[in-house]
Amino acid sequence: MPDTFLQMNNITKRFPGVLALSDVSFNLRRGEVHALLGENGAGKSTLMKILSGVYRPDEGEIIFENNRVQFSSPLEAQKIGITIIHQEFNLFPDLTVEENIFIGREFCKNNRWQLDAKTQRAQVSDILTKLNLKIKPDSRVADLTVAQQQMVEIAKAISVNAKVLIMDEPTAALTESEIDSLFRVTRLLKEQGTGVVYISHRLEELALIADRATVMRDGQYIATVDYETVQINDLITMMVGRKLGDIYPRRPPFTGTQKVLEVKNLQRKDVLYDINFSLNRGEILGLSGLMGAGRTELARVIFGADPIDGGEVWLNGKLIKVNHVSQAIEQGIGYLTEDRKKEGLALGLSVELNIMLGNFPEYSDKFGIVKEKQCREVSEQLVKTLRIKTPHLQQAALHLSGGNQQKIIIARWVCKDTDILIFDEPTRGIDVGAKLEIYELMNRLVAKGKSIIMISSELPEIIGMCDRILVMRSGRITGELNKASATQENIMKYATLED
Ligand SMILES: Nc1ncnc2c1ncn2[C@@H]1O[C@H](COP(=O)(O)OP(=O)(O)OP(=O)(O)O)[C@@H](O)[C@H]1O
Ligand SMILES: [Mg+2]
Repeated sequence: MPDTFLQMNNITKRFPGVLALSDVSFNLRRGEVHALLGENGAGKSTLMKILSGVYRPDEGEIIFENNRVQFSSPLEAQKIGITIIHQEFNLFPDLTVEENIFIGREFCKNNRWQLDAKTQRAQVSDILTKLNLKIKPDSRVADLTVAQQQMVEIAKAISVNAKVLIMDEPTAALTESEIDSLFRVTRLLKEQGTGVVYISHRLEELALIADRATVMRDGQYIATVDYETVQINDLITMMVGRKLGDIYPRRPPFTGTQKVLEVKNLQRKDVLYDINFSLNRGEILGLSGLMGAGRTELARVIFGADPIDGGEVWLNGKLIKVNHVSQAIEQGIGYLTEDRKKEGLALGLSVELNIMLGNFPEYSDKFGIVKEKQCREVSEQLVKTLRIKTPHLQQAALHLSGGNQQKIIIARWVCKDTDILIFDEPTRGIDVGAKLEIYELMNRLVAKGKSIIMISSELPEIIGMCDRILVMRSGRITGELNKASATQENIMKYATLED
């Protein structure tokens, strides 16, 4: 008999103008990994914030180990063993790893006011070893990579011996090997009887770890299924409420030869070596390679975010100098970075202002007065095309779900109307339905004569979308594949090629 030790019954939650959850039920067994699935804005994070005491439900109840429980703060939930790792991290950047893990519950000596530094250090080391982490307990969190910070969050959750551990998109920023250690630890927790709730948009990856899945759509409960027997396509249909067509929408075979961008012998000391390639008008060019191969570095250099130490960049047959991001933008090059947080979503500002941010020159008249009506229409259109889930254009970006915040940044670049767009991991953290919208949008852009460089770690996506693929390794281009020769094996061969 499965041991169901947690039940959320008929939960409803309203925010001003939004019914985030409507009569949702969810249950969790000891020792299971339970995936929580749904499109951006479906209500996953909200449901888990209720379970972990961040929000209170308007209606419904939580039964935990046969008791009805109510939390007025996350700390109360934590005290009975329910811990959450949020989609947005909650670490203190200026404190050390150890301080972050034990904040608020430091180890004390018997006199209760002196820190028992030795015991605490031993505990931290033990957890870090268990996680296979090569981070020092006294490193400052601000100095760690995003992935390492994520692992600190996980270490923190493990250190409280959680009975319920909720992870909200834990792998979005992790490398393959970090995902491996995360899964190893998750299995360890399972064995100890911890129930794990796991939110992710990566359905294939979930097959490796999930026992069951609950699907939500538009704030409603849809179904709970066994992961082993369910077909991924059926999961997708449940999530989006309709059958999706071809996930990589087709375009006619690419035949163009008009070079818009040419990169010759590009060098950046210790980062990029002798990079040569060209991009054609109307083409989607893929940049593939393993994490750290130099793809983002190459994008940054072309965009003027980093200086070069040699080589040339030609735009439409003219040698150009891009010493600064503003110059790149002026010349018609746009770059959607992989780090959307840094890209500067102004959380307090409205959806509309966030889309228009940086685009006002194009949408002003000759006196510099912003054409408000046009701005409204353009943002309305983009909200529709990208299916950004918001009650209205004036909603603060802060109140949108994680995936929908990302879509705003994409909208911002699209309405800028640049000739060359570099998309760096454009679909990370974005649900399947919205992925398809983004692919279709890319297709429309190239059909209009724009050119796209697409960086992606997802091989099926790069193979499905690109006319041509460059593979990088250690700062070099190691291979070029056309549509016919682009297979996962071929890409991996070049991506791991020894010198
Ligand atoms: N504090 C808030 N104020 C107003 N609306 C909110 C608030 N928090 C969430 N919402 C809205 O509730 C709905 C559900 O959001 P939630 O963050 O739970 O989605 P999600 O399923 O986690 O999506 P994602 O996959 O994009 O992270 C969304 O429409 C969101 O805009
Ligand atoms: Mg979320």
